[in-house]
Amino acid sequence: MDKIIVRGGNSLQGEVKVSGAKNSVLPVLSATLLTPQKCIIENVPDLRDVRTMIEILRHLGVNVNFENGRLEVESGEFAGYQAPYDLVCTMRASICVLGSLLARKGRAEVSLPGGCVIGTRPIDLHLKGLKALGAEVNIEHGYIKANCKKLRGTRIYLGGPFGSSVLATANVILAAVLAEGETVIESAACEPEIVDLAEFINKMGGEIEGAGTPVVKIKGVNELKGTTHAVIPDRIEAGTYLVAGAITAGDVKVKGARYDHLGAVIDGLIVSGAELEIKEDEIRVRRDGKISALEVTTLPYPGFPTDMQAQFMSYLSLADGISIITEKIFPERFMHVGELNRMGADITLEGSTAVVKGVEKLSGAEVMASDLRASAALILAGLVAEGETVVSRVYHLDRGYQNMVEKLRSLGADIQRINN
Ligand code: EPZ
Repeated sequence: MDKIIVRGGNSLQGEVKVSGAKNSVLPVLSATLLTPQKCIIENVPDLRDVRTMIEILRHLGVNVNFENGRLEVESGEFAGYQAPYDLVCTMRASICVLGSLLARKGRAEVSLPGGCVIGTRPIDLHLKGLKALGAEVNIEHGYIKANCKKLRGTRIYLGGPFGSSVLATANVILAAVLAEGETVIESAACEPEIVDLAEFINKMGGEIEGAGTPVVKIKGVNELKGTTHAVIPDRIEAGTYLVAGAITAGDVKVKGARYDHLGAVIDGLIVSGAELEIKEDEIRVRRDGKISALEVTTLPYPGFPTDMQAQFMSYLSLADGISIITEKIFPERFMHVGELNRMGADITLEGSTAVVKGVEKLSGAEVMASDLRASAALILAGLVAEGETVVSRVYHLDRGYQNMVEKLRSLGADIQRINN
């Protein structure tokens, strides 16, 4: 199993380009099932999760060609309706084929996603939405078995105990676009990835209004056509490189980043004492003073993203003072705390709140990644720690970061990947 070795101390300098958004490509790929015609998706990152979604589409009988960030997908009259356990268990986001399969085939069998280290992740809102549209849904032998003759538009309140759900919103949109009549989703997720999905479907001839707001209206249409679409830049990848620049007291330009998708992250960096220069498609971060402690609470978009929580924890572990990080989306998402403490951080947990007492320095250590964003956070900590940090289980990183080692090295980091 590969490991990543980071030798800390270099302040990062230079430019890095952001890739396309993983969390946009996955639902957009599912949407290609809604038309038999060819769709072309551009700005696609080469990530393990993208390849898993491609495998699921191929398993359904869909033609997929992926080259140099460009996907050609033609579902034609594909025969399949099942997303198997061995693929779904590696990536929870596979669940978003449920809505498209129901809409296109009137039938879907998708493996239940199973456990996840970042927390219990129920799918009750997904099923609630699909049942409201008229689908019959049963859970049998570890599979969601859903079918319906014709989906019918209706009003659906999709709010959950932690607020809106991104993929439940995506699944209901995907099912509703070919339904009879109008669907109104209330308490819909407002994430930029939902806006991007709606934009893609509207290019196919869909009629979606209000994406990006808590109320989304979908007028069902009879059919959709093929189209071409470039997905949005990855705001979490961009945020991760902004923290890399700030934590190393460097000077980094993140090219292709959309500042309008990063409001809470940019605000956090500015309040912590970093300097940010914002241009149309570039964000520059510099820091030379001390890091000020912060209070951070993760919330649905446009609140502070839970997918940046771990990276900020690494950063704030070196702050001047005590930071409070409250995780309101995945209350147990703290697998990285023990590993950061192994590097000399001083973090204690109280329920879904982490108390981060800033320390003078971190020291390199052998650490283990537990999930995608935790692995990025450990690498960020390694960039500033004294000596060598060895991060294992980096396959987590491959799920969501394209060429992270090469990108960080291009900014002057002393980092390498070794295959063990
Ligand atoms: C998406 O997951 C992202 N994944 C996650 O990013 C991200 O952390 C999450 O949204 C929150 O922003 C993709 O887009 C592929 P949710 P999703 O449903 O849609 C609860 C990464 O690192 N909930 O918005 O699965 C749930 O337990 C990944 O790239 C229900 O209660 O998350 C959570 O507490 C990790 N019932 C909250 O809602 C449901 O039916 C938000 O989860 C669904 C969710």
